[in-house]
This record gives sequence, C-alpha cells and structure tokens, in this order.
Amino acid sequence: MSSDLTPNVSSNLLQLASRLDHIEPFHVMELAKMAADLERQGRHIIHMGIGEPDFTAAQPVVDAAMRAMTAGRMQYTLATGLPELRAAISAYYLNTYGVDVAPSRIVVTAGASAALLLACAALVEKGAEVLMSDPSYPCNRHFVAAFDGHAKMIASGPEHRFQLSDDMVQAHWSAQTRGVLLASPSNPTGTSITEDELRKIVATVRARRGFTIVDEIYNGLRYDATPFSALSLGDDVIVINSFSKYFNMTGWRLGWLVVPETLVPAIEKLAQNLFICPSTIAQHAGLACFAPESIAIYEARKAEFKRRRDYIVPALQELGFKVPVMPDGAFYVYADCSALSDDADRLTIDILNEAGVVMVPGLDFGPYTARQYIRVSYATSMENLQEAVARLKTFFEKRRAAAL
Ligand SMILES: Cc1ncc(COP(=O)(O)O)c(C=O)c1O
Repeated sequence: MSSDLTPNVSSNLLQLASRLDHIEPFHVMELAKMAADLERQGRHIIHMGIGEPDFTAAQPVVDAAMRAMTAGRMQYTLATGLPELRAAISAYYLNTYGVDVAPSRIVVTAGASAALLLACAALVEKGAEVLMSDPSYPCNRHFVAAFDGHAKMIASGPEHRFQLSDDMVQAHWSAQTRGVLLASPSNPTGTSITEDELRKIVATVRARRGFTIVDEIYNGLRYDATPFSALSLGDDVIVINSFSKYFNMTGWRLGWLVVPETLVPAIEKLAQNLFICPSTIAQHAGLACFAPESIAIYEARKAEFKRRRDYIVPALQELGFKVPVMPDGAFYVYADCSALSDDADRLTIDILNEAGVVMVPGLDFGPYTARQYIRVSYATSMENLQEAVARLKTFFEKRRAAAL
C-alpha cells in the first residue's frame, strides 16, 4: 500500500539475486499457520511438528544470565567467543567423549545455524558440490545454495539408517565435489551414522582433499550408544554443535564449531565481519551449562526424552506406521506411512484438521522420502503424546470405517 509519505516504488527497483531460486520456503510453516488458525477457533492442538525441546534452559543457566546482566557484562566479546567458554567446551569434549580439542580450534557462534553458515562461507563457492543425504535438515542445502554451491542430495533409505555410506560418497564424488555434510543423529530421522561408516567416509574424503562437516547438534541426545564424537577421527573433521537441543537453549542463539587449526583465521575473519560476536549474555549463561548441577538436570531431561521415545515408537507401529530403523537420538521418529496413505503431505493435513495433531510431512527434507514419511517429534510431554496417540487411533478407525 502506498501513501504520499512512503511511495511504493520498491517493486519496480529491487531485483532479487538468482540464488534465491534455489532456496525454498519451509512447507512445515504452512502447517504451523493452519494449526494457529485452528487454535484461534478454539481447537486444542497437540504440537508434534516442533523441532525444539519443550524444556527451557536449566535454572543455574538462567541465574548466570541474570548475574551477567546485573554486573553489566554485556559488551561485545571476541568474534571467536569468550575464552572461558571455549575452554569449557574443550573440557566438555575431554570429559564426555575422551577427545582432546584445543580451545583455539573452537569458535563460538549464534547457534549451529551461524556455525554452518561460517563453514559454508569458508569452503563453498560457485559451482561447488556438497554431498548430503536425502532426507536431511532442509537448511543445509540452503546454506550451500547461499554461497552459490550445489547440494547433491543422495537417496539414503532405512537400509543405510537414512545416512550416507562410504560407497555412496565414492560413487557420487565428482570433479566439482568439495566435501560432505552429515548430521548425526539426524534431523528428521533421529538415526546416527555408525562409527565405522563415518571413519570410512572421512578417509575417502581426506584422500580426495575434500572436507567432512559433521553436525553433532543432537549428539548430546543419543540414547543407546557410548558417547562418540567425529572429532576423534582426525583434526581435519569439522564439527558443528549448539546449545539449542541438549542444553534446551533454542532462543538464546548459541552454538559452536570446531575446525582444523589452519582454518581458524579464515573462520575468525568471517565471524568478525558477519556477526561481530555471538550474544554476550548467552555466552555467560552458556558457561553455567557445564556445571555439575546443570549437567544433572540435562541428563534427567535426556532420560525423559528416551522414555518418550520408548513409548511413541511402538505406539506408532500399533497405529499402522512402520519405523524401519529405531531412532537412537534427537527427538524425532521418521515414520513410514505408506500402509496408511499414499500421500504423506495430505495425511498430515487431514490429521491436523480432524485429530488436531501437528506432524511434519517428508516434503521439507528432500524429494526421496517426501510422500512416504512423516517426521514425528516427541519434544512434548508424555501426557500430550498419550493424548495424540488416542486421537490418531480414533482418526484411523473412522477412516477405516468410512472405507468399508
Ligand atoms: C540438524 C540441525 N542442525 C542445525 C540446526 C540449527 O540449530 P540452532 O538453533 O543451533 O541454530 C537444527 C535446528 O533444528 C538442526 O535440526
């Protein structure tokens, strides 16, 4: 709408960069909008589409943020983050994963998102190809597109735990390929890559002088395995992590990446220019995450996530979904709905309208599994999960009755 004070001329003048053609909107946001409309009409909606913990930062962490604010510790920090926080993250790697990572290799960022952006800014350029699994976290291919690279999505089914295998990496590597981007455990599947497979991939990529980026944002939420970080496979592996998931701090915007020592100057100058620094208050709060009383809180919450997983997977199977690989981490189940519908997208819309439960269709995560899978998030209370299962039972019973 134009007025005399603000004439509407922008639509004639602004030309979008062509890279925008390769960046898609989140389809899940459409479902979120539909859910919000239903809530406005007074419907009770259960949210199992959400990709963030229902828990918020532990009290010692909130207290540390308050103390930092009261003491006026709110100016910019170094672009790479508070030295004490880098040291605390380094100690965390030693204590949790038994791997020695020099604090100088750790760069604190505004969440894993900024860490991925920095890694892609440093390593991806026009025409560069990056291999990733289909399905995978949608932003990953868009980070690559933002630097005019090309995400080569490789169909990765349940037989590969929805992850890349070394054979796939070898088969798809081309003259344009610069590296691979993995997430373990993965969003949307909650499945981890095996240590053995990852070791082989790292060796293959290393032999081709490429990069391996492993997003370990959900690594703190692994339920069935001995703790393992890709950092133990060599100092050339780039690891992404965040305070968002295990530490329940999504809105605080705090994460980090670990890079080879030789890459630090490049990442540092990019961070200085792109962000100046991550949130200072969040960094002071983040320091408190590693105190024993905070870790005790986070471990109890992790046990609760595991309890929910152990409830929801068999419950989904009983409803007729197939869960071909038991998710071993994060808070997602990637459920095959092919026995219930031939269109996952339509199914999630019908479930939302009729049962009031939000779940995400495979569409956002890549074309390979788009129509056959839905992502179910169990980052909600046990009561909500039980209520959702009861509603889904009624929904499918009605459908079956109507089909007779
Ligand atoms: C696999 C994966 N990587 C990165 C992110 C971004 O997280 P952050 O909040 O740390 O930016 C997410 C968020 O859902 C994710 O699922």
